[in-house]
Amino acid sequence: MTRLMIVVGSVRDGRIGLPIAEWVRGVAERDGRFDIDWADLKEVALPLMTEPNHPRLRQYTQQSTLDWSARVDAADAFVFVQPEYNYSYSAALKNAIDYLWQEWWRKPLGTVSYGGISGGTRGVTALRVPAVAVGLVPTTSNVEIAWAGRQIDDDGAFEPDEHQERMLAAQLDEIVALDAALAPLRAARDR
Ligand SMILES: Cc1cc2nc3c(=O)[nH]c(=O)nc-3n(C[C@H](O)[C@H](O)[C@H](O)COP(=O)(O)O)c2cc1C
Repeated sequence: MTRLMIVVGSVRDGRIGLPIAEWVRGVAERDGRFDIDWADLKEVALPLMTEPNHPRLRQYTQQSTLDWSARVDAADAFVFVQPEYNYSYSAALKNAIDYLWQEWWRKPLGTVSYGGISGGTRGVTALRVPAVAVGLVPTTSNVEIAWAGRQIDDDGAFEPDEHQERMLAAQLDEIVALDAALAPLRAARDR
């Protein structure tokens, strides 16, 4: 089983990221290949960069960092469900990434992005830079949802279309394949 962390990257009141992430969780649960850790950054509630040392030293001083470190360490792979804000990804995601270093190393990252007409593609492109800096390995199959708010039904649930279902399935396949390929490198602790 791949230990998959689903990260809810929006913390705004009224966020549509929550129902979109719940769709991802439902698909991953039914898939049967994943142990899921649900990481809603609103609940994780990390303060804004409080650690005095570079994270590569792992000399964490805050309980919130130790808890976040342990969770990310335990994960084999990630799906970030991310909104696009001002052509980029959310500040909450940046903060969550920057707190850690080794814990992300050689682990696959899928993204489910959403926003206006671009479907969050600019946010995904922007995320690649810090993601690669910490050693995450992005998938090529990304789910991009344009005008995502139009796919939230009257009960507040996200209603995916066929293409989005297919892209998420492809992304989960890619995550499983990358996880298997990268596991020996992680075990060798090559950083
Ligand atoms: C501060 C802010 C900036 C935004 N910038 C963009 C943008 O650059 N591109 C885009 O497609 N949508 C943009 N939007 C629209 C959001 O993608 C949309 O509101 C979405 O619902 C946000 O996700 P959330 O509800 O999960 O927070 C922006 C929204 C906010 C609040």
